[in-house]
Amino acid sequence: MEEIKKISVVKKYTDVSELSETDMAMLKHAKEAVHTAYAPYSKFYVGCAVLLENGEIILGSNQENIAYPSGLCAERVAIFHAGSKYPNVPITAIAITVKAHDFLVKEPIACCGACLQSMSEFEMKFKKPMRIILQGEVGDILVAEGVKVFLPFQFWVEELKK
Ligand code: THU
Repeated sequence: MEEIKKISVVKKYTDVSELSETDMAMLKHAKEAVHTAYAPYSKFYVGCAVLLENGEIILGSNQENIAYPSGLCAERVAIFHAGSKYPNVPITAIAITVKAHDFLVKEPIACCGACLQSMSEFEMKFKKPMRIILQGEVGDILVAEGVKVFLPFQFWVEELKK
């Protein structure tokens, strides 16, 4: 028996002013996207900004549905939009921020597993990791280099691509 350890490293910043200009701008865009969320059921509003290698920024927000599973998370709204608009352009960064109707979100919220899996497909497609920038409504910011940081054992079967 052998133990396999995968170590995840994230950078924590206590203030947006510590971020690079690009990351700061990405968070700002994500915060704008929060206002477009359609979340009448959870009242949890998620905003996402995707930076493409060509400099284009695509926004997305969670879109809920009265048939709950028919809704979609902000990350997948944004990356699928990016993929359909620019199918051959890699994603270099993605910023996600949230706002809740009933409480103040003081911690960065990680992307759900389904979004991470969808994001990992883009990384595999372009063989490039994307930088992930997370912040709650206020508080610390987390920056991670690549989806593997949050999803170390993602589903991937090379043979299924053939
Ligand atoms: N949500 C996202 O937009 N992204 C995630 O990674 C997790 C959850 C949304 C889905 C739903 O509209 C609301 O947050 C509450 O779960």
